[in-house]
Amino acid sequence: MPNAIAYISRDTDGLHWKRVLEAGLGPLDYRTLDTLGNTDDIEVALAWKPPHGLLRTFRNVRLIVSLGMGVDHLLADETLPDVPIVRIMDEGLVGQMSEYALFWALRHHREIDRYAELQKQGQWKPLDFVDTIDRRVGVMGLGTIGQDTAAKFARLGFPTAGWSRTARTLDGIETFHGSDGFRRFLARSDILVDVLPLTRETRGLLDAAAFAALPKGAYFINMARGGHVVDEALLAALDSGHLAGAALDVFNTEPLPAGHRYWTHPRVHVTPHIAGATNPRTASPGVIENIKRLRAGRDLIHRVDAKTGY
Ligand code: GLV
Repeated sequence: MPNAIAYISRDTDGLHWKRVLEAGLGPLDYRTLDTLGNTDDIEVALAWKPPHGLLRTFRNVRLIVSLGMGVDHLLADETLPDVPIVRIMDEGLVGQMSEYALFWALRHHREIDRYAELQKQGQWKPLDFVDTIDRRVGVMGLGTIGQDTAAKFARLGFPTAGWSRTARTLDGIETFHGSDGFRRFLARSDILVDVLPLTRETRGLLDAAAFAALPKGAYFINMARGGHVVDEALLAALDSGHLAGAALDVFNTEPLPAGHRYWTHPRVHVTPHIAGATNPRTASPGVIENIKRLRAGRDLIHRVDAKTGY
């Protein structure tokens, strides 16, 4: 019986994953991209941005595990074998994501960059402040990450709303959904946080009309996928001063190409897709559970619906 586990990613050497999986499953026939050997042995593929066409060559694979919470990197491969796909659910990653959003939102809200400038000039100059109850936060995407992020903003006293594809009801969060709710949601979001999955429906969603619908002086935080953004539209909204700034962790092309305007734009902060790193310690219990379930012929958890794309 094929029972090898293959770690298909160039992000790390995968040894950390080997350790945490073996702690739960016992010794494994564990392969990486450099030690794949006979791929007929592979039963489970753990994948992050696999080279397109590779997974199809694993003739006996029975399960694909996305090492990211987003699965667009997998579904973009049109040759994927027809086996279940599950994704990690990682409370460590979720916590990091909400930290990332809170960090940039608070930095903007409390004018930290302007005070840093004033410090450089040796100036002691308190600025007018915006009351927390007047700074409206909008979170696009209300899955696990979006709910955690929205709840933390609400806890700090920011009037917080969320937008999702289908209707949701959440305690203490105003919710909007569908294309009807989108404009109304944007119009009340002084800080817009994107945590949507990348799907056919969400690609290019943040275009010139969407940015124009935000209130003047709004701030944009993208920790989801660069593919949601029409870059020229975002740059135009920043250049005109309609948007006060943006913190971008994800891009249409990654790594962000040298010379791209985001690198040097005075209102943009760039980070290299680090908002939420998959943490083997917190992500592995769900993966171990799924491998056990697979081997016992039981229903899998955290399954991905290839139709909706998440
Ligand atoms: C990271 O981008 C992820 O999808 O987990």
